Amino acid sequence: MNKDDLRSLQRAGKAVRSILKKLKKFIRPGVSGLQINDFSVNYLEENFSGCNLSSKGYQGFPGSICVSFNDNIIHGIPSKRVIKEGDIIKVDVVVECRGWHADAAYSYIVGEVSREEKELVAVTQKALSAAAKEARAGNTTGDIGYAVQTLIESAGFSVMRRFCGHGLGRSMHQDPSIPNFGNPGEGTKLKEGMIIAVEPMAFIGSPEVEVAENGWDVYSKDGSQTAHFEHTLVVTRKNPLIIT
Ligand code: MF3
Ligand code: CO
Repeated sequence: MNKDDLRSLQRAGKAVRSILKKLKKFIRPGVSGLQINDFSVNYLEENFSGCNLSSKGYQGFPGSICVSFNDNIIHGIPSKRVIKEGDIIKVDVVVECRGWHADAAYSYIVGEVSREEKELVAVTQKALSAAAKEARAGNTTGDIGYAVQTLIESAGFSVMRRFCGHGLGRSMHQDPSIPNFGNPGEGTKLKEGMIIAVEPMAFIGSPEVEVAENGWDVYSKDGSQTAHFEHTLVVTRKNPLIIT
């Protein structure tokens, strides 16, 4: 990755960050997943010309971004389903700029939710910061997984096992896989310049998941509430460069 490549990646990251920030005001009762999708498409087109939403058409994915409601933890296909007070909406956005992809996700609390649900969202976000602190050259994917798992499990929640974070860059998904569980020192060694998407995903209840008939929406099997946060990072010898 040369200087120009990094600039492209950073532009993609800025686009992702801007969309997720704009959505804080846009996401409210009465708004549908499709409206969130279209808002994001238009915002990108108007403010980041030349950039594209990478998820569109990815392995046949019908949306441009992922919008997931409550027990739907990831890969939600944007639909006509409308947000209600008390929902937790996860939005996952991947933008490509001059061939470089940046990926991030955020969990939006709509109105009042239970104390337990608030705690779930807070601890999952905290797990992302803790994981980022572990993402430096010489550490391993197990160090990241361990940080995520210990934080979330000590709060009494469970971590996603079926789906992981991932490397990315010139494509949306690359090696290594970045699990949300693990042991210090195990897994793949992180190297300077590696681009990774770290994405804690947590459940109030069991981590068992079910994929919907549409082949995409991933649900908690027990119907329990879920949270997801994600950042794209570049590994350095010190603190990572946060791209999104
Ligand atoms: N951002 C998602 C991830 O990290 C990718 C979405 S898959 C898609 O895995 F098909 F919906 F694009
Ligand atoms: Co993502």
